Amino acid sequence: MLVLGIESSCDETAAAVVSDAKELKSSVVFSQQEHKAFGGVVPEIAARAHLERVDDIVSETLEKAGVGFKDLSAVAASAGPGLIGGVIVGVMTAKAIALVHNLPFIAVNHLEAHALTVRLGADVPFPYLLLLTSGGHCQILAVEGVGKYKKLGATIDDAAGEAFDKTAKMLGLGYPGGPMIEKYALNGDAARFDLPRPMVGKEGCDMSFSGLKTAVRHIVEGFSPDGDIKTAVLTERDKADIAACFQKAVLDSVRSRLKNGVKTFKTLFPEGRHLVVAGGVAANTALRAALKELAEKKHMIFEAPPLNLCTDNGAMVAWAGMERFLTGANDPLDFSPRPRWPLDPSSKR
Ligand code: KG4
Ligand code: ZN
Repeated sequence: MLVLGIESSCDETAAAVVSDAKELKSSVVFSQQEHKAFGGVVPEIAARAHLERVDDIVSETLEKAGVGFKDLSAVAASAGPGLIGGVIVGVMTAKAIALVHNLPFIAVNHLEAHALTVRLGADVPFPYLLLLTSGGHCQILAVEGVGKYKKLGATIDDAAGEAFDKTAKMLGLGYPGGPMIEKYALNGDAARFDLPRPMVGKEGCDMSFSGLKTAVRHIVEGFSPDGDIKTAVLTERDKADIAACFQKAVLDSVRSRLKNGVKTFKTLFPEGRHLVVAGGVAANTALRAALKELAEKKHMIFEAPPLNLCTDNGAMVAWAGMERFLTGANDPLDFSPRPRWPLDPSSKR
C-alpha cells in the first residue's frame, strides 16, 4: 500500500510517498525563503507560497517515487494544528486528489505526524515516552497508540524551538535559529554567562523557556553602549559563547524535566521501554546526545527520527496517514482544518 502525504502547516511545503513496508519512496521538501527578511514566519506570505508550489511538489514527489495517483491507497495532509492559511492549502489539495482519483482522504494531526515518524525508520512499539519539541510546541507525552496520547507535561510559555529562534534573532544569526545556535554553540564557552535553569527541581514535567529568553536579552543588552539590544555590538566569540550557554541551559532544563517524565511514564506504563524525541528541535545533536545518556541511565532505549525527518517534511504526514489508514481510519471530505488540535484533549494545556 502507498500513501501520499502533504505538509504545509508552517513554512515547509512538502510531500512524500511511503509504503506500508516502511519504505520512503520519495520525499520533496521546499523550505520557504520568503520569511528570512522578517526573522519569523509571516502567515499570509506562507499561505501564498504554499499555494504557488504545492501542485509542482506533489507532481515531483510522485515522479520520484515512480508512481501515479492510480497507484495510491490513500492521500493524507497535515490538517492542523498550524498556520491556518497554509493548512487549508494542503488539505484542499489532498481533498481534490482524493475526490478526483476516488481515494480515501486522511486528515493528519501535525503533532501526531511528528510523534509517529520514529516508527517509519525503527521498530518502536507502543507505549513510548516522547519529548515533542518544535517551533510551536513542547510537550512530554506517553504515546499509547495511534490517536492515543497522554500529556504528562508541556511548556507553560514559549516552545523550545521558539526560544532557539528568538535567541538567534537577538544574536543576529537569522531564521530559523535552531541550526545556527547549534553551529555557534559548538565553538562557544558554555560557562561564560550565568543563565537560569527554568523549572529545574520542581515537581512534574512542565517546562518554561520565556525566562531564559529574557535572561539572554539582558546579556545581549550588556553589550550595548546605551543598554539597547539594537545597538549591541557582539563579536563572533561573544555570539558563540551566548549560544553555548543558552543551548546548555535548554538541555539541562529539558533533561531534568524529562527525568520526572520517565518516572511518571514508568509508573503508568511499566511495559514501555523507549524514550523518543521528535519535532524540529530533535534535529539538535547535543539534545539527542543528552537524551540518549538519560535513556541509558534509566534503562530505556533512545530513538529519534533521522535528522532530515525531524523538521517538517512530507514523510511524517504520509507515515502518520499510513498508520491511521492501517487502523481503518479515513476522514470525510468536509473535514475542517483545525488551527488548534491537541493530541490529548483531556489535558488543560
Ligand atoms: O517541527 P518544525 O520543523 O516546525 C514546527 O512544527 O514548529 O520545528 C521548527 C523548529 C524551529 O524553531 C527551529 O529553530 C528548530 O525547530 N530547530 C532546531 C534545530 N533545527 C531546527 N532547534 C535546535 N537545534 C536544531 N538543530
Ligand atoms: Zn512541525
